[in-house]
Amino acid sequence: MKVLVIGPGGREHAIVRGLLADPYVHEVHAAPGNAGIAALVPTHQLNANDPEEVTALARKLDVDLVVVGPEAPLVAGVSDRLREAGFPVFGPSREAAALEGSKAFAKQVMAGAGVPTAMAKVASNIGEAAEALDTFGAPYVVKDDGLAAGKGVVVTNDREEALAHAQSCFEAGGEVVIEEFLDGPEVSLFVLSDGRTVVPLAPAQDFKRIHDEDEGPNTGGMGAYSPLSWAPEGLVDEVISRVAQPTIDEMAHRGTPFVGVLYCGLALTSRGLRVIEFNARFGDPETQAVLARLRTPLGGLLMAAAKGQLASVETLRWTPETAVAVVLAAANYPDTPRTNDRIRGIKKANALDGVHVLHAGTALDEEGKLVSAGGRVLAVVGLGEDLVEARERAYDGMALIQLEGGQYRQDIAAKAAWGKVELPQQNASRQAASRSAASSTAEETR
Ligand code: AMP
Ligand code: GLY
Repeated sequence: MKVLVIGPGGREHAIVRGLLADPYVHEVHAAPGNAGIAALVPTHQLNANDPEEVTALARKLDVDLVVVGPEAPLVAGVSDRLREAGFPVFGPSREAAALEGSKAFAKQVMAGAGVPTAMAKVASNIGEAAEALDTFGAPYVVKDDGLAAGKGVVVTNDREEALAHAQSCFEAGGEVVIEEFLDGPEVSLFVLSDGRTVVPLAPAQDFKRIHDEDEGPNTGGMGAYSPLSWAPEGLVDEVISRVAQPTIDEMAHRGTPFVGVLYCGLALTSRGLRVIEFNARFGDPETQAVLARLRTPLGGLLMAAAKGQLASVETLRWTPETAVAVVLAAANYPDTPRTNDRIRGIKKANALDGVHVLHAGTALDEEGKLVSAGGRVLAVVGLGEDLVEARERAYDGMALIQLEGGQYRQDIAAKAAWGKVELPQQNASRQAASRSAASSTAEETR
């Protein structure tokens, strides 16, 4: 199988790495890729958001499958054009990608499908925004309706700050969605879909804020780990039955089937499971952690989704290890990042046991030296027997890498490693109930 991967980031590097490990994949190309991807496979420079350019490349390379990584090409209709030209595509159509592209649309679909999510109001002027803020009360949650690379959401106790964010979205010509605040830990679950059948990957947790202890502004994601040792038993089944399958069914029913990966961003609140957001693609950096553990060949899986054949895939296989991905970001990220700084030490990090480095915003300068070229520069992935070992390895790798002004969080997966993730009461009691059920079964069979 010959595969073309569209996108420039760490997620795409993880996908390319996964594809190369699939014995049925004999050739991988990427566009535009980054310096790390270019060291593995041929890369092609193009405007990834231009459906014609991407389709022309797929034709020229005569690929069997196109995997579209980021949201922007999906929302621009790249998958639609490729499908018209006869290519199997892993990635939803423009209309189906609106599940991510418009938060207001996602809320409509969830309402239609009976999927639990935060109560929300759409506001298109400051008066409506103020009214919605007062309806839900603090903490205030204000979301830019359109795509904002994970940075369009403000969660704050400060009403003025909430209003100011809404105002800046209105000034940019957009609308906002104002929501009730969801308490409880967050979970990212990637669910593959062929339009009808769904197959979940392993759950992960992502760290959105720039600084330790979840301080500072939201970013695209500063680290992730998988699986979740603390997750309530039955969580994945519950997400499938209450969230993913009803959403996929609703999209099919609307005549816009969703083919690709439905990223379910969830909160485990005191009132139960709630969807925070949907994305129409793999999460970044969760993918770097999740795919590091997947043993089932990735190419076959993505092809089965693209061709409507997920019902016939075998149960997914995983390494029993835990994966932790820690992101190294450039100076000044998540504001306009500084670029063109030298990056050193990746080879040394890659040489450590259980460590690999995935590039994101990297490039080669005129002298062929590796430099930063984006906000999130790379991720160091550690695999270990448990979270403690996986963290240790990821951070040992990070310690070998140098980037002037580089920033990374020290506390990725720390709470989980020390058993300190707290589930709100309802989940906690359900978890205790399922534990005692499990132990009584164990006693009975003794
Ligand atoms: P989103 O872009 O919708 O994923 O939001 C980015 C981040 O903002 C989420 O991962 C949460 O940490 C936070 N967030 C979004 N919506 C809510 C909510 N209703 N309650 C609490 N936190 C939220
Ligand atoms: N890590 C969050 C995202 O991919 O949206």
